[in-house]
Amino acid sequence: MEKIEVKEAKGKLGILVVGVGGAVSTTMITGTLAARKGVAKPIGSIAQMATMRLENGEEKAIKDIVPLADLNDIVFGGWDIFPDNAYEAAMYAEVLKEKDLNNVKEELQAIKPMPAAFDHNWAKRLNGTHIKKAATRWEMVEQLRQDIRDFKAANNCERMAVLWAASTEIYIPLSEEHMSLAALEKAMKENNTEAVSPSMCYAYAAIAEGAPFIMGAPNLCVDTPAMWEFSKQMNVPISGKDFKSGQTLMKTVLAPMFKTRMLGVSGWFSTNILGNRDGEVLDDPANFKTKEVSKLSVIDNIFEPEKYPDLYGDVYHKVRINYYPPRKDNKEAWDNIDIFGWMGYPMEIKVNFLCRDSILAAPIALDLVLFSDLAMRAGMSGIQTWLSFFCKSPMHDFEHQPVHDLFQQWRMVKQTLRDMIGEKAPSYLD
Ligand SMILES: NC(=O)c1ccc[n+]([C@@H]2O[C@H](COP(=O)([O-])OP(=O)(O)OC[C@H]3O[C@@H](n4cnc5c(N)ncnc54)[C@H](O)[C@@H]3O)[C@@H](O)[C@H]2O)c1
Repeated sequence: MEKIEVKEAKGKLGILVVGVGGAVSTTMITGTLAARKGVAKPIGSIAQMATMRLENGEEKAIKDIVPLADLNDIVFGGWDIFPDNAYEAAMYAEVLKEKDLNNVKEELQAIKPMPAAFDHNWAKRLNGTHIKKAATRWEMVEQLRQDIRDFKAANNCERMAVLWAASTEIYIPLSEEHMSLAALEKAMKENNTEAVSPSMCYAYAAIAEGAPFIMGAPNLCVDTPAMWEFSKQMNVPISGKDFKSGQTLMKTVLAPMFKTRMLGVSGWFSTNILGNRDGEVLDDPANFKTKEVSKLSVIDNIFEPEKYPDLYGDVYHKVRINYYPPRKDNKEAWDNIDIFGWMGYPMEIKVNFLCRDSILAAPIALDLVLFSDLAMRAGMSGIQTWLSFFCKSPMHDFEHQPVHDLFQQWRMVKQTLRDMIGEKAPSYLD
C-alpha cells in the first residue's frame, strides 16, 4: 500500500468562522476552548474521541494515527453581521449555560467579528449593520482575502481554514455563471448579485488564500463546477454541504437498516419545530427551499428504488420545518415511518428526537475543520468525498453519486485515514 505523505501540523491553525456570532459557532468555539483547558470533554468529536482498528487488529485513537492539529494550536476568528464578541453572542444564543461560558470568558470576549460580506436579498429575515461596503462581488472577495491575510499575520498562523456556519441563503439553481471559473470570475467582476451569493465570495477568498473551505449550510456556494475547478487549481480541499446533525442523521441510520433487512417503506413524514435564529431564517420559503432540497435527496439515494421497486418504488417523503420561538435551540423532531414486511403487512415506527441543535452540530463543525486541515497537509484537493460522513447533502461532481448511508460513509473516513498511513483494512472485523 502506497503511503500518502502527510506534512506535520506545525505552528498555529487559524480558523475563521463565517457567522462567528451564531449558535453553532459559539457552541463549537466554547467547547473547543473548554476542552483544551480540561474543563469539558469534546464529546461527539470523531477527531478527538474515536478509535480505529489497524491492520494487525490493534485499536488506536484516530488522533494518534494521523497528525491532526492540536487544539492548543487553534486561533479562532471570523465574520458576522452583528458586532457582538463571541461571549455576548453566546449569551444571546442561549445554548450554553453562563457558568460554562465563564470558564473561557476572556478568550471568548477576545473574539470580535470582522464586518461581514452580506446581501440582504440572500437572507431577508436578517438585518445586521456590521457589514462591508463593496461596489462589486469582486471587491467583496478582495476585502475578504485581505481579512484572511491580516488575521494570519496578526496571529502568527502557519495555516488557515474557513468554515461557513452562517445562516442558510436562499435557494438558487446552478446556472451558466457557475459552470466554469472564468464564468464565475466574470460574474463577480460584473457584479451579478443574483448568481453570486455572499457565501461564494467567502469560498472564493478562502481558496484563493490557500485555506480549506467548509460549507456547513446547504447553500449552493462551493458546490459548483467553477469552485471544483478553482479548488483543484489551488490545491485546496473543499467540503460540505449542511452539517448532518439530527433528523437526517437518524434517517441515514434507519434507512440502511430497512434496506439491509429488505423491509419495504411506503411513507416517511418528518417534521420539526425550532425557535433559534436559524429557524427564523428558514421560515422564509426561499431559504427553506435550500434546506428542503438538502434533506429530501437522502432516502432515494439509500433505497435505490430502481433496484428494489417492490420495496421502495413508491415512498411518499415529506419534510417540514416550523419556526416556533419558545423552543429556541432545543429542536424537536418527529418522524413517522410507514414500513411493510412479510406478505406486505404494514407497520409504523415513530421517532421523537428532542435534541439540541447546536450541541449536535458543534463537534461536526470542529471535525470538518480538523480533517480539512489534515487533507490540505496530505495534498488532497477539490471535493473531499470522505467527509460526506458529516454532511446532509454530500458534495459530488457530475460523474459520481453521493453516499448517504452513515456506515458506508464511516468506512470512507477510515479508508482515507488508512491510506494516509499506508495500511489496509483488517480482514474480517473492521
Ligand atoms: N444546528 C444544526 O444542527 C445545523 C445542522 C445543519 C446545518 N446548520 C446550519 O448551520 C448554520 C448556522 O446555524 P445556527 O443555528 O448557528 O444559526 P444562527 O442564526 O444562530 O447563526 C448564524 C450566524 O450567521 C450570521 N450571518 C448570516 N449571514 C452572514 C454573512 N453573510 N456573513 C457573516 N455572518 C452571517 C448571523 O448573523 C448569525 O450570527 C445555518 O445555516 C444552519 O442551517 C445547522
